[in-house]
Amino acid sequence: MLLIGPPGAGKGTQAKLLQRHFHVPHISSGDLLRAAVQQQSAVGIEAQSFMQRGELVPDGLLIHVVEERLSQPDCSNGFILDGFPRTIAQAETLRTLLGRLHTSLDNVTSIKVPQKELIRRLSGRRQCPECGSAYHVELDPPKKAELCDKCGSKLIQREDDHEATIVARLNVYERETAPLLEYYRKSNILHEVGGVGNQNDIYQDILGRVGA
Ligand code: AP5
Repeated sequence: MLLIGPPGAGKGTQAKLLQRHFHVPHISSGDLLRAAVQQQSAVGIEAQSFMQRGELVPDGLLIHVVEERLSQPDCSNGFILDGFPRTIAQAETLRTLLGRLHTSLDNVTSIKVPQKELIRRLSGRRQCPECGSAYHVELDPPKKAELCDKCGSKLIQREDDHEATIVARLNVYERETAPLLEYYRKSNILHEVGGVGNQNDIYQDILGRVGA
């Protein structure tokens, strides 16, 4: 399964709920890249400046990382992809890669949210660097300011969640990623859901549409 949507649409939020339902891993290209940046691996060092500017990381850096992750045994019963592919060229690469692994994408869910709401969500987003839990300063604040409810760690703001970078990311989405909707619509595996409202209602909507 693949989740597509602009930055802040709730792909990560929904993927975390769906992975518990389907018992398959959530594979976020952004998380893989952020882990590489944190480890200061060769990929991470090169990817960092693209991510800070809100630009796409070059395919040559990313595809190997995704391929390695999809080849791991926990993906053999399926996976939830979030953030990859983001271009038609990446979608073609994914098709080839999944073919080599004797599998294919069975459904693609697009989450739609108006731009004003995306900017509000991303500029207020805070994350736990330890357990990955997500919060929002107004919409979903932690019980104790700046601390994770689940593990007590100090919450952080992502480097690319500042307004100028958010706008750059939204423009990249419209230019590079939105054409993928038509690409997957033609393959008859695209479902479209509204991403505004209660997170659990959106989750139930996705489950209903994918026939789970
Ligand atoms: P990535 O990490 O994939 O970021 P993104 O696509 O910009 O998406 P986000 O993680 O910001 O948003 P989301 O849709 O997951 O929303 P979330 O659930 O967190 O990519 C980062 C960078 O890595 C890219 O810019 C690029 O440089 C690089 N990269 C990654 N993949 C690449 C690729 N394939 N090719 C090249 N480069 C790549 O929710 C957001 C906020 O909203 C949270 O605070 C959450 O609590 C809140 N929220 C969620 N749902 C709701 C709701 N229903 N109502 C109210 N608030 C909600």
